[in-house]
Amino acid sequence: MASFPQIRLRRLRRTAALREMVQETRLHVTDLIYPLFVVAGRGVKKEIPSLPGNFHLSSDLLVKEAESAANLGIPAVLLFGLPKTKDDTGSGAYNAKGVVQQAIKEIKRAMPELVIITDVCLCQYTNHGQCGVVVDGYVDNDKTLELITRTALSHAEAGADMVAPSDMMDGRVAAVRGELDTNGFQNTIILSYAAKYASAFYGPFREAAESTPQFGDRCSYQLDPPNLRQALYEVEMDIQEGADIIMVKPALAYLDIIAQVRQRFYVPVAAFNVSGEFAMIKAAAEKGWLNEEACVMEVLTAIKRAGADLIVTYHAKEVARWLKSGNLI
Ligand code: PBG
Ligand code: ZN
Repeated sequence: MASFPQIRLRRLRRTAALREMVQETRLHVTDLIYPLFVVAGRGVKKEIPSLPGNFHLSSDLLVKEAESAANLGIPAVLLFGLPKTKDDTGSGAYNAKGVVQQAIKEIKRAMPELVIITDVCLCQYTNHGQCGVVVDGYVDNDKTLELITRTALSHAEAGADMVAPSDMMDGRVAAVRGELDTNGFQNTIILSYAAKYASAFYGPFREAAESTPQFGDRCSYQLDPPNLRQALYEVEMDIQEGADIIMVKPALAYLDIIAQVRQRFYVPVAAFNVSGEFAMIKAAAEKGWLNEEACVMEVLTAIKRAGADLIVTYHAKEVARWLKSGNLI
């Protein structure tokens, strides 16, 4: 058996060309999903303070933003809605004329090929900010399912290619699949936020989506961060219930979860590089403490190396440009 000095692992690292030849993981623009926030009205484009470079957009300008992403080669957008008014049951979420439903139609008209994914949840639409129907201070699972399925169906009817339930209620994937199939939407894809943790890294998003819970937290439905086996159980259940793609969220503090899910299951795996992960790098880069491009590429490549096929990231457009410019990571 050869060993040092015959074996020298540094031989393959000597030049950039050699390193590229033996590079094991490569980020590609088609891995990216670009999140967008739609608001009511026309002509609205307001930068989100907690997510620099991301905007609250009315559907007319959201179409332009989606177009610019598509022109960079990004295959999919993920839509979040901020309704005009909120109520107890989040009725804006399943209103056929709601902000997301309108935006889907406008994007589809302009760009039929762009894949439209919709976040399916109630928290942006309820006045209490919880992801479901509250009964005696507790989020009622089965009552919430009815509204989640209505929301998903309304998105499919508007033309969404994929619906992404993010509420973490039990049984939601089966309920959504059933509702879609009964109504003739057999081909609408379910991307399930299967392993979604009760994470502190959602802070900037909640400011952006105005979805901070007005009482309590989300710990009675989202996963507890120390748990791996429960995450695998959630993923297994969602696949059994008919999820086409499963998601792990957040990404960076959960690379072990991504890796294990990748090894154990066959469906494509998505990871959500969440708002707090974006904000940490942005803020440090603004201070001149980190090189933004290098850090983002390193992080996203790590998420892919862990096993993610798809990555939701607020950096999607910047990454698409960096990939085009051909810089080596
Ligand atoms: C809510 C939802 C959340 C995110 C997407 N949908 C977080 C939450 O539980 O408040 C987080 C996205 C992000 O932080 O980037 N269903
Ligand atoms: Zn929610």
